[in-house]
Amino acid sequence: MPDQADRALDNSAPEKTGERLQKVLARTGQGSRRVCEELIADGRVTVDGKVAVLGRRVDVRTARVEVDGILLPVAPDLVYYLLNKPAGVITTSADPQGRPTVVDLVPSEPRVFSVGRLDLDTEGLLILTNDGALAQLLTHPSHGVDKEYVAEVDNGTPSPGALRQLRQGVELEDGRTAPAAVGVLSPGVLRLVIHEGKNRQVRRMCDAIGHPVRRLVRTRIATLRDTGLAPGHWRELTGVEVRALAAAAGRQS
Ligand code: URA
Repeated sequence: MPDQADRALDNSAPEKTGERLQKVLARTGQGSRRVCEELIADGRVTVDGKVAVLGRRVDVRTARVEVDGILLPVAPDLVYYLLNKPAGVITTSADPQGRPTVVDLVPSEPRVFSVGRLDLDTEGLLILTNDGALAQLLTHPSHGVDKEYVAEVDNGTPSPGALRQLRQGVELEDGRTAPAAVGVLSPGVLRLVIHEGKNRQVRRMCDAIGHPVRRLVRTRIATLRDTGLAPGHWRELTGVEVRALAAAAGRQS
């Protein structure tokens, strides 16, 4: 039984979406729904560290549900991989030309898909998951999660004026790009943070200022970085990382 004295009671409005907590508890083998309702009524169940009340709904993709302080695997069927995509691997499930794809690099079961895409020659961080709701949230233009890239460009370091153009937005054939954070890491190497997902956006932005990209690496997606993941390798995201991504994309769990 948790010590309720040092846990805040969850007085906020119950989640309007998501699954009923007693149903989620029953699925993880805590007993019948009636028994699970009693667990909740007895204050033995917490959601994200707060004692849950009857009627609570939870988003099983992100909620941290504990009974008597023991964490329950409420979303065992959802997987989240972080892949360090190498150049030459295509971001699709199957390629008619038989080129290697990103899904060839992660476990084949359960089937996953990539969250957004990286060009054939772009390297770096890519999320693969079977969580369609989180994928949609992260890629929806209105949520605009930050994506950071390191770009090695031709023709030396762009002038201060060209850098200003990148920061303020450049005119592309499908519209003007939103303001971006741009810095110079070393001669001819830029760090760009964008939150849109236009096709080949970074390459086209750099083309537009006369500095075509020679090498492009994605180094961050919202809160997610990993400098220790070798090209072609993947790892599972932790629950904390998944929750942080969902929060960055605007979902309160
Ligand atoms: N911008 C690009 O130009 N290419 C990518 O793969 C990702 C962002």
